[in-house]
Amino acid sequence: MMEHLQSAMERFKAEGKAGKTARSSPHLDPAPAASPSTIVYSRSRPVFIHEEVLRRHRILTRHDSPFADSYKILRTQVLHRLREHGWNMLGVTSPREGTGKTLTAINLAIAMATEPNQTVLLVDADLRAPRVHETLELERRAGLTEYLLDGTPLEEMLLYPGLGRLIVLPGGRGTEQSAELLASPRMAVLSKELKYRYESRIVIFDLPPVLGRADVLAFSPQLEALLLVVEDTKTLEPDLQQTLQMLKGATAVIGTVLNKAGQGQLSLPQVKRAVAVNHGWAG
Ligand SMILES: Nc1ncnc2c1ncn2[C@@H]1O[C@H](COP(=O)(O)OP(=O)(O)OP(=O)(O)O)[C@@H](O)[C@H]1O
Ligand SMILES: [Mg+2]
Repeated sequence: MMEHLQSAMERFKAEGKAGKTARSSPHLDPAPAASPSTIVYSRSRPVFIHEEVLRRHRILTRHDSPFADSYKILRTQVLHRLREHGWNMLGVTSPREGTGKTLTAINLAIAMATEPNQTVLLVDADLRAPRVHETLELERRAGLTEYLLDGTPLEEMLLYPGLGRLIVLPGGRGTEQSAELLASPRMAVLSKELKYRYESRIVIFDLPPVLGRADVLAFSPQLEALLLVVEDTKTLEPDLQQTLQMLKGATAVIGTVLNKAGQGQLSLPQVKRAVAVNHGWAG
Protein backbone atom coordinates (compact mmCIF):
# COMPACT_ATOMS: atom_id res chain seq x y z
CA MET A 1 0.00 0.00 0.00
CA MET A 2 2.77 2.42 1.00
CA GLU A 3 4.64 1.46 -2.15
CA HIS A 4 1.61 2.23 -4.23
CA LEU A 5 1.19 5.56 -2.55
CA GLN A 6 4.87 6.29 -3.00
CA SER A 7 4.81 5.57 -6.72
CA ALA A 8 1.58 7.48 -7.10
CA MET A 9 3.23 10.44 -5.39
CA GLU A 10 6.24 10.18 -7.68
CA ARG A 11 4.10 10.08 -10.76
CA PHE A 12 2.09 12.94 -9.37
CA LYS A 13 5.26 15.05 -9.02
CA ALA A 14 6.48 14.00 -12.46
CA GLU A 15 3.12 14.97 -13.97
CA GLY A 16 3.37 18.31 -12.21
CA LYS A 17 6.75 18.97 -13.81
CA ALA A 18 5.59 17.77 -17.20
CA GLY A 19 2.57 19.99 -16.77
CA LYS A 20 4.72 23.04 -16.15
CA THR A 21 6.79 22.38 -19.25
CA ALA A 22 3.68 21.83 -21.33
CA ARG A 23 2.17 25.03 -20.05
CA SER A 24 5.26 27.12 -20.66
CA SER A 25 3.93 28.30 -24.02
CA PRO A 26 2.65 31.84 -23.44
CA HIS A 27 0.01 31.23 -26.07
CA LEU A 28 -1.53 28.41 -24.10
CA ASP A 29 -1.16 29.80 -20.64
CA PRO A 30 0.04 33.32 -20.03
CA ALA A 31 0.65 32.79 -16.31
CA PRO A 32 2.04 29.33 -15.69
CA ALA A 33 3.22 30.10 -12.18
CA ALA A 34 -0.30 30.94 -11.04
CA SER A 35 -1.96 28.38 -13.26
CA PRO A 36 -5.22 27.29 -11.62
CA SER A 37 -4.72 23.73 -12.84
CA THR A 38 -1.48 23.61 -10.82
CA ILE A 39 -3.48 24.58 -7.78
CA VAL A 40 -6.04 21.88 -8.41
CA TYR A 41 -3.34 19.26 -8.94
CA SER A 42 -1.60 20.15 -5.75
CA ARG A 43 -4.86 20.03 -3.81
CA SER A 44 -6.17 16.77 -5.23
CA ARG A 45 -5.42 13.58 -3.40
CA PRO A 46 -3.23 11.19 -5.38
CA VAL A 47 -4.76 7.72 -5.47
CA PHE A 48 -3.23 4.73 -7.13
CA ILE A 49 -5.31 2.37 -9.25
CA HIS A 50 -3.63 -0.85 -10.21
CA GLU A 51 -3.45 -1.75 -13.91
CA GLU A 52 -5.17 -5.02 -13.10
CA VAL A 53 -8.15 -3.16 -11.64
CA LEU A 54 -8.36 -0.97 -14.72
CA ARG A 55 -8.25 -3.98 -17.00
CA ARG A 56 -10.85 -5.87 -14.97
CA HIS A 57 -13.31 -3.01 -15.33
CA ARG A 58 -12.53 -2.37 -19.03
CA ILE A 59 -10.96 0.97 -18.19
CA LEU A 60 -8.19 2.40 -20.34
CA THR A 61 -4.85 1.52 -18.83
CA ARG A 62 -1.67 3.57 -18.82
CA HIS A 63 -0.34 1.30 -21.55
CA ASP A 64 -2.05 -0.17 -24.56
CA SER A 65 -5.65 -1.23 -24.18
CA PRO A 66 -7.40 -3.37 -26.78
CA PHE A 67 -10.22 -0.83 -27.02
CA ALA A 68 -8.15 2.37 -26.82
CA ASP A 69 -8.83 3.22 -30.46
CA SER A 70 -12.61 3.27 -30.01
CA TYR A 71 -12.26 5.84 -27.23
CA LYS A 72 -9.75 7.89 -29.19
CA ILE A 73 -12.32 8.14 -31.99
CA LEU A 74 -14.98 9.10 -29.48
CA ARG A 75 -12.65 11.65 -27.86
CA THR A 76 -11.82 13.25 -31.19
CA GLN A 77 -15.45 13.52 -32.22
CA VAL A 78 -16.62 14.85 -28.88
CA LEU A 79 -13.78 17.37 -28.52
CA HIS A 80 -14.44 18.58 -32.02
CA ARG A 81 -18.13 19.16 -31.30
CA LEU A 82 -17.44 20.81 -27.95
CA ARG A 83 -14.75 23.13 -29.33
CA GLU A 84 -16.95 24.10 -32.25
CA HIS A 85 -19.32 25.71 -29.75
CA GLY A 86 -16.86 26.66 -27.03
CA TRP A 87 -18.54 24.19 -24.64
CA ASN A 88 -16.90 22.37 -21.76
CA MET A 89 -19.81 21.01 -19.66
CA LEU A 90 -20.66 17.54 -20.96
CA GLY A 91 -23.09 15.03 -19.47
CA VAL A 92 -23.13 11.32 -20.22
CA THR A 93 -26.54 9.71 -20.00
CA SER A 94 -28.79 7.11 -21.62
CA PRO A 95 -32.48 6.29 -21.93
CA ARG A 96 -32.35 3.62 -19.23
CA GLU A 97 -30.02 1.90 -16.74
CA GLY A 98 -27.04 -0.31 -17.37
CA THR A 99 -26.06 0.77 -20.88
CA GLY A 100 -22.47 1.62 -19.98
CA LYS A 101 -22.74 5.32 -19.08
CA THR A 102 -20.26 5.19 -16.22
CA LEU A 103 -17.69 3.21 -18.18
CA THR A 104 -18.08 5.52 -21.18
CA ALA A 105 -17.73 8.62 -18.98
CA ILE A 106 -14.59 7.25 -17.29
CA ASN A 107 -12.90 6.11 -20.48
CA LEU A 108 -13.77 9.25 -22.39
CA ALA A 109 -12.41 11.31 -19.50
CA ILE A 110 -9.15 9.34 -19.50
CA ALA A 111 -8.83 9.50 -23.29
CA MET A 112 -9.26 13.29 -23.15
CA ALA A 113 -7.04 13.78 -20.11
CA THR A 114 -4.13 12.13 -21.88
CA GLU A 115 -4.24 14.75 -24.64
CA PRO A 116 -1.60 17.45 -24.18
CA ASN A 117 -2.86 20.46 -22.25
CA GLN A 118 -6.29 19.02 -21.70
CA THR A 119 -7.45 18.76 -18.12
CA VAL A 120 -10.57 16.78 -17.36
CA LEU A 121 -12.71 16.78 -14.26
CA LEU A 122 -14.96 13.74 -14.03
CA VAL A 123 -17.90 14.37 -11.71
CA ASP A 124 -20.02 11.50 -10.41
CA ALA A 125 -23.43 13.12 -10.66
CA ASP A 126 -25.46 9.92 -10.36
CA LEU A 127 -26.21 10.90 -6.81
CA ARG A 128 -28.78 8.26 -6.00
CA ALA A 129 -26.34 5.52 -6.89
CA PRO A 130 -22.81 6.93 -7.26
CA ARG A 131 -20.63 4.23 -8.83
CA VAL A 132 -17.52 5.92 -10.22
CA HIS A 133 -15.45 5.14 -7.10
CA GLU A 134 -16.63 1.52 -7.17
CA THR A 135 -15.73 1.11 -10.82
CA LEU A 136 -12.26 2.46 -10.01
CA GLU A 137 -12.20 0.28 -6.86
CA LEU A 138 -11.54 3.30 -4.68
CA GLU A 139 -12.61 3.55 -1.09
CA ARG A 140 -15.77 5.58 -0.68
CA ARG A 141 -15.03 9.05 0.64
CA ALA A 142 -16.84 12.34 0.83
CA GLY A 143 -17.97 13.61 -2.55
CA LEU A 144 -20.53 15.76 -4.29
CA THR A 145 -23.32 14.66 -1.91
CA GLU A 146 -21.33 15.82 1.12
CA TYR A 147 -20.37 19.06 -0.63
CA LEU A 148 -24.01 19.85 -1.40
CA LEU A 149 -25.60 18.61 1.82
CA ASP A 150 -22.94 19.17 4.47
CA GLY A 151 -20.77 21.90 3.01
CA THR A 152 -17.65 19.73 3.06
CA PRO A 153 -14.92 21.64 1.17
CA LEU A 154 -14.37 20.47 -2.39
CA GLU A 155 -10.57 20.46 -2.04
CA GLU A 156 -10.81 17.59 0.41
CA MET A 157 -12.56 15.32 -2.04
CA LEU A 158 -10.86 15.75 -5.41
CA LEU A 159 -8.88 12.69 -6.49
CA TYR A 160 -5.91 12.46 -8.81
CA PRO A 161 -5.58 8.87 -10.08
CA GLY A 162 -2.49 9.52 -12.22
CA LEU A 163 -4.33 8.82 -15.49
CA GLY A 164 -3.20 11.76 -17.57
CA ARG A 165 -4.51 15.06 -16.28
CA LEU A 166 -7.69 13.56 -14.89
CA ILE A 167 -9.26 14.72 -11.67
CA VAL A 168 -12.25 12.91 -10.16
CA LEU A 169 -14.96 14.35 -7.96
CA PRO A 170 -16.66 11.28 -6.50
CA GLY A 171 -20.36 11.18 -5.66
CA GLY A 172 -19.95 10.44 -1.97
CA ARG A 173 -22.61 8.70 0.07
CA GLY A 174 -25.47 9.35 -2.37
CA THR A 175 -29.00 10.48 -1.61
CA GLU A 176 -32.63 9.90 -2.56
CA GLN A 177 -32.87 13.67 -3.05
CA SER A 178 -30.59 13.49 -6.07
CA ALA A 179 -32.76 15.46 -8.51
CA GLU A 180 -33.41 18.21 -5.95
CA LEU A 181 -29.71 18.48 -5.19
CA LEU A 182 -28.75 18.67 -8.86
CA ALA A 183 -31.31 21.47 -9.30
CA SER A 184 -30.20 23.31 -6.14
CA PRO A 185 -28.71 26.83 -6.19
CA ARG A 186 -25.56 25.43 -4.58
CA MET A 187 -25.09 23.05 -7.52
CA ALA A 188 -25.73 25.89 -9.96
CA VAL A 189 -23.02 27.99 -8.30
CA LEU A 190 -20.61 25.04 -8.31
CA SER A 191 -21.32 24.37 -11.98
CA LYS A 192 -20.56 27.97 -12.92
CA GLU A 193 -17.37 27.79 -10.92
CA LEU A 194 -16.35 24.56 -12.68
CA LYS A 195 -17.22 25.94 -16.07
CA TYR A 196 -15.40 29.25 -15.89
CA ARG A 197 -12.58 28.84 -13.43
CA TYR A 198 -10.13 26.67 -15.35
CA GLU A 199 -9.18 27.19 -18.93
CA SER A 200 -8.75 24.14 -21.16
CA ARG A 201 -10.67 21.93 -18.82
CA ILE A 202 -13.56 19.73 -19.80
CA VAL A 203 -16.04 18.75 -17.11
CA ILE A 204 -17.72 15.38 -17.68
CA PHE A 205 -20.74 14.43 -15.56
CA ASP A 206 -21.64 10.78 -15.15
CA LEU A 207 -25.43 11.01 -14.96
CA PRO A 208 -28.34 8.68 -14.24
CA PRO A 209 -30.67 7.69 -17.11
CA VAL A 210 -33.22 10.14 -18.53
CA LEU A 211 -36.40 8.05 -18.44
CA GLY A 212 -38.14 7.55 -15.12
CA ARG A 213 -35.81 9.99 -13.32
CA ALA A 214 -36.02 13.74 -12.90
CA ASP A 215 -32.25 14.21 -12.48
CA VAL A 216 -31.03 14.85 -16.00
CA LEU A 217 -33.75 17.34 -16.87
CA ALA A 218 -33.31 19.04 -13.49
CA PHE A 219 -29.59 19.43 -14.13
CA SER A 220 -29.84 20.26 -17.83
CA PRO A 221 -29.65 24.08 -17.37
CA GLN A 222 -26.06 23.61 -16.18
CA LEU A 223 -25.06 21.34 -19.05
CA GLU A 224 -24.06 22.42 -22.53
CA ALA A 225 -23.94 19.06 -24.23
CA LEU A 226 -25.08 15.50 -23.70
CA LEU A 227 -23.72 12.24 -24.99
CA LEU A 228 -26.29 9.44 -25.15
CA VAL A 229 -25.10 5.91 -24.57
CA VAL A 230 -27.33 3.29 -26.13
CA GLU A 231 -26.84 -0.42 -25.79
CA ASP A 232 -26.86 -2.53 -28.88
CA THR A 233 -29.91 -4.82 -29.06
CA LYS A 234 -31.04 -3.70 -25.55
CA THR A 235 -32.01 -0.05 -25.91
CA LEU A 236 -35.49 0.12 -27.42
CA GLU A 237 -36.13 2.55 -30.18
CA PRO A 238 -39.26 4.06 -28.56
CA ASP A 239 -37.16 4.74 -25.44
CA LEU A 240 -34.51 6.46 -27.50
CA GLN A 241 -37.12 8.56 -29.30
CA GLN A 242 -38.78 9.51 -26.03
CA THR A 243 -35.41 10.47 -24.56
CA LEU A 244 -34.54 12.68 -27.52
CA GLN A 245 -38.00 14.22 -27.30
CA MET A 246 -37.59 15.00 -23.60
CA LEU A 247 -34.20 16.59 -24.13
CA LYS A 248 -35.39 18.79 -26.97
CA GLY A 249 -35.23 22.39 -25.85
CA ALA A 250 -33.16 21.33 -22.81
CA THR A 251 -29.57 20.38 -23.66
CA ALA A 252 -28.03 19.62 -27.04
CA VAL A 253 -27.40 15.94 -27.69
CA ILE A 254 -24.07 16.01 -29.49
CA GLY A 255 -24.18 12.36 -30.39
CA THR A 256 -24.85 8.80 -29.40
CA VAL A 257 -22.49 5.99 -28.56
CA LEU A 258 -23.62 2.57 -29.64
CA ASN A 259 -22.20 0.52 -26.82
CA LYS A 260 -21.64 -3.21 -26.44
CA ALA A 261 -22.08 -3.53 -30.19
CA GLY A 262 -21.96 -7.01 -31.64
CA GLN A 263 -19.78 -7.77 -34.62
CA GLY A 264 -22.70 -8.16 -37.00
CA GLN A 265 -25.59 -5.95 -38.00
CA LEU A 266 -26.07 -2.79 -35.98
CA SER A 267 -29.52 -2.82 -34.56
CA LEU A 268 -30.53 0.80 -34.19
CA PRO A 269 -31.21 3.04 -37.16
CA GLN A 270 -30.07 5.98 -34.99
CA VAL A 271 -26.55 4.71 -35.33
CA LYS A 272 -26.33 7.35 -38.06
CA ARG A 273 -26.07 9.88 -35.26
CA ALA A 274 -23.40 7.86 -33.53
CA VAL A 275 -20.12 9.50 -32.71
CA ALA A 276 -18.63 6.12 -31.94
CA VAL A 277 -19.39 2.46 -31.86
CA ASN A 278 -17.91 0.59 -28.95
CA HIS A 279 -17.91 -3.14 -29.27
CA GLY A 280 -18.75 -5.48 -26.46
CA TRP A 281 -15.44 -6.30 -24.86
CA ALA A 282 -14.92 -9.49 -22.97
CA GLY A 283 -13.80 -8.96 -19.38
N1 LIG B 1 -18.58 -1.98 -24.35
C1 LIG B 1 -18.72 -2.80 -23.31
N2 LIG B 1 -18.37 -4.10 -23.40
C2 LIG B 1 -18.52 -4.95 -22.37
N3 LIG B 1 -19.02 -4.59 -21.17
C3 LIG B 1 -19.38 -3.33 -21.01
C4 LIG B 1 -19.25 -2.35 -22.05
N4 LIG B 1 -19.70 -1.16 -21.58
C5 LIG B 1 -20.09 -1.38 -20.30
N5 LIG B 1 -19.90 -2.66 -19.96
C6 LIG B 1 -20.22 -3.30 -18.66
O1 LIG B 1 -21.60 -3.18 -18.40
C7 LIG B 1 -21.83 -2.96 -17.01
C8 LIG B 1 -22.64 -1.70 -16.80
O2 LIG B 1 -21.82 -0.59 -17.17
P1 LIG B 1 -21.93 0.82 -16.44
O3 LIG B 1 -21.91 0.69 -14.97
O4 LIG B 1 -20.93 1.69 -17.08
O5 LIG B 1 -23.41 1.19 -16.92
P2 LIG B 1 -24.32 2.41 -16.45
O6 LIG B 1 -25.12 2.78 -17.65
O7 LIG B 1 -23.49 3.45 -15.84
O8 LIG B 1 -25.26 1.72 -15.36
P3 LIG B 1 -26.22 2.47 -14.31
O9 LIG B 1 -27.44 2.88 -15.08
O10 LIG B 1 -26.51 1.41 -13.30
O11 LIG B 1 -25.46 3.64 -13.76
C9 LIG B 1 -20.45 -2.91 -16.36
O12 LIG B 1 -20.14 -4.17 -15.85
C10 LIG B 1 -19.53 -2.56 -17.52
O13 LIG B 1 -18.22 -3.04 -17.34
MG1 LIG C 1 -23.64 4.45 -14.02
